[in-house]
Amino acid sequence: QIHPILLCGGSGTRLWPLSRKSYPKQFAKLMGDESLFQASARRLSGEGFAAPVVLTGDPFRFIVTEQLAQIEMGPSGILIEPEGRNTAPAILAAALWLAAQKGDDALMLVAPSDHVIPDAEAFRATVAAAAPRAKAGDLVTFGITPDRPETGYGYLELAAGADATAAEPQSLARFVEKPDAERAAEMLAAGNFLWNAGIFLFTAGTILAAYRAHAADLVEAVSAAVEGAGTDLGFTRLAPEAWAGAKDISIDYAIMEKADNLAVMPYAAGWSDLGGWDAVWMESAKDEAGNACSAQATAIDCQGTLLRSETDGQQVVGIGLEDMMVVAMSDAVLVAPKAEAQRVKEAVSALKAKG
Ligand code: GDD
Ligand code: MG
Repeated sequence: QIHPILLCGGSGTRLWPLSRKSYPKQFAKLMGDESLFQASARRLSGEGFAAPVVLTGDPFRFIVTEQLAQIEMGPSGILIEPEGRNTAPAILAAALWLAAQKGDDALMLVAPSDHVIPDAEAFRATVAAAAPRAKAGDLVTFGITPDRPETGYGYLELAAGADATAAEPQSLARFVEKPDAERAAEMLAAGNFLWNAGIFLFTAGTILAAYRAHAADLVEAVSAAVEGAGTDLGFTRLAPEAWAGAKDISIDYAIMEKADNLAVMPYAAGWSDLGGWDAVWMESAKDEAGNACSAQATAIDCQGTLLRSETDGQQVVGIGLEDMMVVAMSDAVLVAPKAEAQRVKEAVSALKAKG
């Protein structure tokens, strides 16, 4: 059995106003009737999968239980981080917790809860095909064919002779997290790189050994936080004082860039990390003119436009808009050209500055 470990800690300011500090994007219904978190939990359920372990912060614990109940799932554990310390400490806590319950051989599939992977069945089949390699002791990543010199992703360099289109795991030469623009362009041109999807498969024992080898300082703090954890209402609360001693770092920098037992499972059936409203538009169903309208939105003579009403009973109409994005909530409305999608986080800082 594979144990899904769902990371549920980000804030997603580029998807304001739907994504808020108090209600981050993974819990919002960005695509269809389910939240991204619900879709992620469901994608990793069924035959071969154990109930998920969810890692989140205290403010979101009841959103997690409620959203799982809505899709008739229950967690095998909810670990509460006293504060966000990025993915390296969070994944380590999950590995220690899982190893204590299921042993070092337990397979963990670490997955963000804010991605869109439309073909759940293809994804589960890919995970199953990757499992033997993880059982054999490798850290298995999932690789996406790059189509632009994106600087917000990790890059996976295939080992000599590896096949980026294979249906089984391939060896990796190295992992490069978030390169600058020049290196990203070089890697894209080189052709033997894939993007890191941010999804990982390994046994608890393999990843714990990697932490001991490459991030021993984290092991001390996080072990103390797990050993000192308290439980209430089924939540496992990591011990705050010990947790405060854990370095704030992602698993990509702390482990993946340093490890030499890396493999990649190519995945070509569709993946998006929904990094902005332009990506939401891209992934949404569109009319003939390329407009993506929510149920209460109407586009007249518009082109390539995202029009969303997020409030019951509130109609939004666009006339003559080209490549725009409009997201209307009851207390906040975003209007901007789609080309400015990456600047939406500036809205959050501008409003914060106003107080
Ligand atoms: N529980 C918890 N606690 N979750 C966290 C924390 C934390 O402190 N920090 C981040 N996460 C969650 C985020 O919500 C997200 O689902 C996932 O972990 C990855 O974190 P991001 O902050 O979104 O990372 P990134 O997008 O910059 O980079 C990662 O993902 C890319 C693909 O989307 C890296 O793995 C890249 O290499 C990768 O290409
Ligand atoms: Mg991300």
